Amino acid sequence: MTGLALAPVLTVAPNGAWAEGEGASPVHVSATLTPSLSHAARSGGRYYGAAARADHLRQDKALRAAILRDCEVLTPEIHLKWNSLEWRKGQFHFTPVDDLLAFADENGLRVRGHTLLWDQSTPDWAKHEMLDRRDWRLMSEHFSRVLGRYASRIDEWDVINEPIDTVSGAHALRRNTFFRAFGPTYIERAMEEARTHAPHAHLVINDYGFEYGNPVDKARRQAFVALARRLRAARVPLDGVGVQAHLDLSKGPIDRVGLQEMTKALIDLGLDITVTELDVKETEASASTPARDQKVADETRRYLDVMLAFPEVRGVVTWGLTDKFSWLTEQVDARVRADRGVNRGLPYDDAYSPKPMYWALEDTLRASA
Ligand code: G3I
Repeated sequence: MTGLALAPVLTVAPNGAWAEGEGASPVHVSATLTPSLSHAARSGGRYYGAAARADHLRQDKALRAAILRDCEVLTPEIHLKWNSLEWRKGQFHFTPVDDLLAFADENGLRVRGHTLLWDQSTPDWAKHEMLDRRDWRLMSEHFSRVLGRYASRIDEWDVINEPIDTVSGAHALRRNTFFRAFGPTYIERAMEEARTHAPHAHLVINDYGFEYGNPVDKARRQAFVALARRLRAARVPLDGVGVQAHLDLSKGPIDRVGLQEMTKALIDLGLDITVTELDVKETEASASTPARDQKVADETRRYLDVMLAFPEVRGVVTWGLTDKFSWLTEQVDARVRADRGVNRGLPYDDAYSPKPMYWALEDTLRASA
């Protein structure tokens, strides 16, 4: 039994609510939901999933119920990152990942591996060592340790997260620690390294900032395609790309044509695409709740209408499932939070009622079948 061991079976109580296990009190998710987001996605040959944390799963029964209801895939929100696994050199913290995997196994969920290399989640000791010694063995050992332990269980990996920077990068690549230590070809080397330790996995590069009509997003779309083109031409093992899709109501409107062109160009390179971190950042917290929720839903629909027109978009993952646990709420300081409350940019509100965003997801996933 793990810390997350759960009654794996969800049953519908006579009142229509979802109850967990035998004799458990009903978990309020919703009595009125038609088949779930995964059901809708599957009807279109796709998957739906959400990011989650083991500690949240452990403490929140309603979160577990919502995930079991709606998700086919889980992404560990933080536990697979290098600074979660090994914040002190040589001291490893696998338990949260193992717990999350046990929960997934018990309930037949698949897991996305997020992420092997991200500058922001690389521990300081590793950054210093990389820059001091420029010795690739540090990377090999990290990949070998993580993939050696998890590649038999997790078959899709964000090998590199957020390599693009068109504002202060070099040739549009972010001058991150890996770039500074190993040069721009760290990307090729990392993909090859991943393939060595995970011969059958679906290997992905994941990035953000592709949705809007501003010059930065436009340049980022071009840079992402150019990177993918270079890697494919060099026969680097890259199977797909992840587009994070952190939508932002202050940046609208979505550039439909730009998004379509980028997606088509990536598909023409033989890549498939996963929407890996969908959520919506709000702007006007002073508006009424229904008005806010409608805006979030409309933005979700506008985005997915474009993306789900492509059959090569294999899945949609939201960056969380409920506003109760969202980085968009967590990142604001206490003063702003008191003023603004939670960001309402995920399918369920913080009391696990489905919002218009839920129905926009359900409808677009199903309609694209
Ligand atoms: O666990 C420590 C805790 O011990 C400590 O007291 C606290 C003090 O700040 O920090 C806690 O760690 C935080 C962790 O979340 C758990 O809450 C980190 O500071 C915080 O940086 C971390 O944030 C995560 C962030 O990635 C960095 O890993 C967010 O939850 C997570 O949503 C976010 O996810 C990223 C994707 O991986 C990549 N794309 C962007 C996305 C949003 O930033």
